[in-house]
Amino acid sequence: MRDIWIDCDPGHDDALAILTAIANKDKLNILGISTIGGNQTLEKVTTNAKNILSFVRADIPLAMGQKGPLVKCLEPSDEAHGESGMDGPYFDHGDYPLASKNAVNFMYEKIMSTENKTIIVGLGPLTNVALLLKSYPEVLDKIDCISIMGGGINHGNITSLAEFNIYVDPEAAHIVFNSGLPILMAGLDVTEKAEITVSEIESLKNKGKVSHLAYELLHFYNKSGQQFGFINSPIHDLCAIEYLLKPEIFGGNHYYVDVNTNDGVSRGHTFADKRLVSEKGKNTLVLETVNREKFVEVLINALEKLDNELVSK
Ligand code: RIB
Ligand code: CA
Repeated sequence: MRDIWIDCDPGHDDALAILTAIANKDKLNILGISTIGGNQTLEKVTTNAKNILSFVRADIPLAMGQKGPLVKCLEPSDEAHGESGMDGPYFDHGDYPLASKNAVNFMYEKIMSTENKTIIVGLGPLTNVALLLKSYPEVLDKIDCISIMGGGINHGNITSLAEFNIYVDPEAAHIVFNSGLPILMAGLDVTEKAEITVSEIESLKNKGKVSHLAYELLHFYNKSGQQFGFINSPIHDLCAIEYLLKPEIFGGNHYYVDVNTNDGVSRGHTFADKRLVSEKGKNTLVLETVNREKFVEVLINALEKLDNELVSK
């Protein structure tokens, strides 16, 4: 059993990562979930997180984090995830309790109060995580590693060199990569291979309630991805959770990775020093391959498990 904290900006793929983590409660103990402005505004991604947690009747602490990045301003776009940030399903807006504290303070309290070290899972811009590490340096001793969806050592998606989560807040990402903590990086190098096919999406349609919710999420997300040239749908954020569950289905290499925080064409680029004699410590495990079929199988099994649990609740 590993204690984890999920920081996210739901987001279709964030939602599927959260559901998969909840389904695997025998392996992952979710101390709490925090939201960060990213795919959409903080208010919208927090509403989406509430809806997902309400839907599966979860009982997990939820806290709102920062509205936007450390330095620049957030510029949400409807392009990938729609106007709500998680278009597709309709939720009957069952409210879900929200912690009164800001996520950074809440994360600190929860992580310091557990006996074990916590794995922080970052599925959006890393603003909350960076603020936690800078505001409370003593928390470093209570963090095992940071597993992120972010970056890409060969290409980007929001610019040719930068991936969205890193691009939104490169200063925060620079703080995280240079924190001294081990980083598990599920960047585009692996997440664009971690895709679900249209027929696999259709197979979810007439199963249980949670599987059908995943169908509605992925049906919208697949149609949205077609504008960017995708036929199948990369479930980016799910990689950062699935690595914790089944590391054996992934492949990768250790590198020193840092983030370009300068303005200009390479802002937000995650640079990996691939030289074998790099004088910098190899701070990051960069995931580069995944067994796609097994990756999808983990998701489908998780959804089926939640289908069965929801029936008995
Ligand atoms: O680039 C993919 C990342 O951006 C994912 O975390 C997705 O949810 C969006 O936030
Ligand atoms: Ca995300």
